[in-house]
Amino acid sequence: MIQLQKVTFAYPSQIQQPVLRRLSLNLRMDICTGLTGSNGAGKTTLGLLMMGLLQPVDGQVLINGKSISDIPLHQIGRQIGYLFQNPRQQLFADTVLDELLFPFILQQTDSAEIRKRADKLLTLFQLARRKNENPLRLSTGEQKRLALAALMMNEPDFLILDEPTNSLDLASRRVLGDLMTERIRMQKGLLLISHDQPFVSQYCQSVLFLDDKKIQEVACAT
Ligand SMILES: Nc1ncnc2c1ncn2[C@@H]1O[C@H](COP(=O)(O)OP(=O)(O)OP(=O)(O)O)[C@@H](O)[C@H]1O
Ligand SMILES: [Mg+2]
Repeated sequence: MIQLQKVTFAYPSQIQQPVLRRLSLNLRMDICTGLTGSNGAGKTTLGLLMMGLLQPVDGQVLINGKSISDIPLHQIGRQIGYLFQNPRQQLFADTVLDELLFPFILQQTDSAEIRKRADKLLTLFQLARRKNENPLRLSTGEQKRLALAALMMNEPDFLILDEPTNSLDLASRRVLGDLMTERIRMQKGLLLISHDQPFVSQYCQSVLFLDDKKIQEVACAT
């Protein structure tokens, strides 16, 4: 479970105007939870706090009862996969295939099994024919699919997806939806940050609403 206990967060440049104020919530790690709310409400900020990429000004974030400040970032990264709202923020390799293989080559854990997993994911996300291309030359939707495929290489226990359906065509939405359904069946949950109401309603078992005026009130909508 991911827990936020009375979390207050403000960006350093706007320290007098917290984005989140004394926000508490419990997030189950075996279901799909949706997170919606208006632009600027703090959804992305909340996701980054849950990954330890931002630190609260007050209060704390716990993962399975342990304070996130005591867990090294690379350990959180192995457990939780994070899809950035802008996929370009997480693409850094020279080719599509290397985007999936790079961490394994770096850790010298590359193997035939890893190559097979990469091929399978590239096929699933319809990128197999693009595997030698530069990720930055892909379309936005393709970049999103590549970022998703790269995340799945780690087989994370939990996913935080920030606006994953932005720029995705119908076929890709279905691939993502099926993948999410399969994960839930395996009790590997996710947080779906999204303005895509139909997608949230279709795939989430619980929905949180973050209101920019009453940030402390996170209500379960379904
Ligand atoms: N790096 C930053 N420095 C200063 N302020 C920031 C920074 N990033 C975000 N903010 C501000 O924090 C508030 C919350 O932003 P956030 O990106 O979390 O909103 P969001 O709910 O994800 O919005 P959207 O639906 O548009 O994605 C906004 O007012 C934004 O301007
Ligand atoms: Mg956002």
